[in-house]
Amino acid sequence: MFPHNVLFVLCLILGIQVIKSLEVIPERANVTFSNPEYASNVTINIRRYNRKSAYYINLMGTNMQTWTNNITADVEISQYLHNEYRPSFVGFHYKLCDLVNKEPFIGGAIKNAGLVCPLPAGYHAVMNITAPTEHFPNVFPFEKGRIEFTVSLTSTSEPVLKLFIEARFKQK
Ligand SMILES: *[C@@H]1O[C@H](CO)[C@@H](O)[C@H](O)[C@H]1NC(C)=O
Ligand SMILES: *[C@@H]1O[C@H](CO)[C@@H](O)[C@H](O)[C@H]1NC(C)=O
Ligand SMILES: *[C@@H]1O[C@H](CO)[C@@H](O)[C@H](O)[C@H]1NC(C)=O
Ligand SMILES: *[C@@H]1O[C@H](CO)[C@@H](O)[C@H](O)[C@H]1NC(C)=O
Repeated sequence: MFPHNVLFVLCLILGIQVIKSLEVIPERANVTFSNPEYASNVTINIRRYNRKSAYYINLMGTNMQTWTNNITADVEISQYLHNEYRPSFVGFHYKLCDLVNKEPFIGGAIKNAGLVCPLPAGYHAVMNITAPTEHFPNVFPFEKGRIEFTVSLTSTSEPVLKLFIEARFKQK
């Protein structure tokens, strides 16, 4: 298990309304690297359907082969402080299917939005990603943070995909 605050940060960054008194505002998300041998046309965006709706994250793209545990995802969290993102030394890595099928928070969020693992080759649109809102401690260490996902081949660590999500957190 991760420390609770890590899970909390991750869930917040995924756009989840964890506690009513905390407003979460995903601000930016982008794909910064995509290896054409393994993935193409990958995009990520943040959507809100009306002024009162939650923020949703949408992830779309094509994987060129089936992805299983031969793909690994590393997650790193940075804290925005004094005009720069600083590593928080909080991070973890998971094999893809272990993440999707066994990890209840991030994996659960992606799974709830429809991603399956093994993931067949082809175009996938994982829309309206949100996550479970229960059982999160009422603590939040950052006002603004960035979560970076680095996806690579499990066997050789060859980079496949890099993307980030930045979010702001407002105590009400
Ligand atoms: C995402 O990155 C691309 C290329 O690096 C850039 O052209 C685009 O403006 C960025 N989009 C956002 C929303 O930051
Ligand atoms: C990626 O998008 C381009 C332009 O829309 C399209 O021509 C190409 O076929 C797409 N590639 C895949 C693998 O979907
Ligand atoms: C991962 O393993 C599957 C099933 O063995 C295989 O079809 C696929 O090509 C592999 N994916 C990559 C990216 O090597
Ligand atoms: C995403 O959520 C919005 C608002 O709840 C809904 O209108 C839309 O149909 C959903 N899209 C998908 C692909 O589930």
